Amino acid sequence: MRGAISMDFWTVRGGKRLYGACRVQGSKNASLPILAASVLAGGETELTNVPRLRDIDAALRILRHLGCRAEQEGNRLYIDARGLVHSSVPESLMHEMRSSVIFMGALLARCGEVRLSPPGGCRLGKRPIDLHLAALRKLGARIEEDVSELHCRAQRLRGTEIILPFPSVGATENALLAACGARGETLIRGAAREPEIAALADFLCAMVAEIRGAGSDTIRLTAFRPKKDVCFRIPPDRIAAASFACAAAGCGGDLTLNGFEPGQISAVLHFLNAAGCDIITFTHALRLRSDARLTAVGPVVTAPYPGFPTDAQPLLMAALLRAEGESLFRETIFENRYRQVPELLRLGADISLDGREATIRGVERLRGSALTATDLRGGAAMIVAGLAAQGETVICDDGHITRGYEHFDRCLRSLGADVYLEY
Ligand code: EPZ
Repeated sequence: MRGAISMDFWTVRGGKRLYGACRVQGSKNASLPILAASVLAGGETELTNVPRLRDIDAALRILRHLGCRAEQEGNRLYIDARGLVHSSVPESLMHEMRSSVIFMGALLARCGEVRLSPPGGCRLGKRPIDLHLAALRKLGARIEEDVSELHCRAQRLRGTEIILPFPSVGATENALLAACGARGETLIRGAAREPEIAALADFLCAMVAEIRGAGSDTIRLTAFRPKKDVCFRIPPDRIAAASFACAAAGCGGDLTLNGFEPGQISAVLHFLNAAGCDIITFTHALRLRSDARLTAVGPVVTAPYPGFPTDAQPLLMAALLRAEGESLFRETIFENRYRQVPELLRLGADISLDGREATIRGVERLRGSALTATDLRGGAAMIVAGLAAQGETVICDDGHITRGYEHFDRCLRSLGADVYLEY
């Protein structure tokens, strides 16, 4: 994967329907906390089905900076953390990727100390980490915070009861990781229930942790004795799957998605079905057919899992731009997650915003235009909309989309789309 950010240009010639099958990539949001957790391993960690993404590269750069050996061969990763010599992450690496904050809990558990710069906000909103810090303090960490640095220390972390007032994914992951270094049992109440949490717990259990309840709102971790070597397969990416389903719904076609659990995106499939898509689900695959003009749906209210995923909001919005009637969205997770809207309006979409609410009035047709990607999911939504537009859409993107989608252009082309990525 390329290093420093350079401008990507996605060219989408719309009006073609999607046909065929594709396999869902490995999960970005499951991989990142597992890469952080690899510093807790007593030996070598081998990960398979790891997507080749910018964010994964950023996490590998952090691991190497810490003194770990980290090598990627295709979708296989080898990490050896026995050589870890640092427990601080420089600002330059923290800023590359917001979720590097997950290294805080893992390094505290491994080293008893960690220094890193506060991740700060991103394009989706302020994104404070108060719940992360409260959880680490509850485990016995002393934390000094200033604008440029967070310094966490703990002579001895102690198992405890952590109550999260909001099921934050990141705070749940940091609490779980830090608890691996604590003496005694830790109980996390109000935990996030996203499948990525269960994947992290499965990985920690592969390193001989005893964890119960991951995937529910109450997680209990009772012991952690790192064993020698670990081999683990990264689960499929439910948001990437939802993105392809929305693409086929929006421009029409007959798509089969293989290698993931459709139940993990049932909230998305519910609305695609209500909009008029014909969906058949299997244990590890789905078939979606979209033949006629879609019908507007709503309200689509984003919520923590198993509610409607905020990461799929821009993708479903893009699929519904030509749907007959008015679709209503309410974004409850992030305060600034409609950044794709001004760009979609350039394609001739009819969208109005009122605070956290977006109303989409379906239009007969969209026409290609020049757009600028705003963030990862917003950028992918522009490709989905471009597929349904007449003519050519060119998306100028400073590396957002390849942060989360592996070979997005190639996969879409294999389904008959006319999409090209130029660096
Ligand atoms: C994870 O982010 C995902 N990222 C996000 O996906 C996803 O949108 C989000 O969960 C929600 O599902 C990864 O897994 C790497 P949160 P995270 O902590 O952990 C507030 C993508 O596109 N909050 O659940 O940062 C916060 O401001 C990305 O792949 C606090 O107020 O999400 C936000 O409004 C984007 N205080 C809400 O909770 C805290 O201490 C949800 O945040 C922590 C969070």
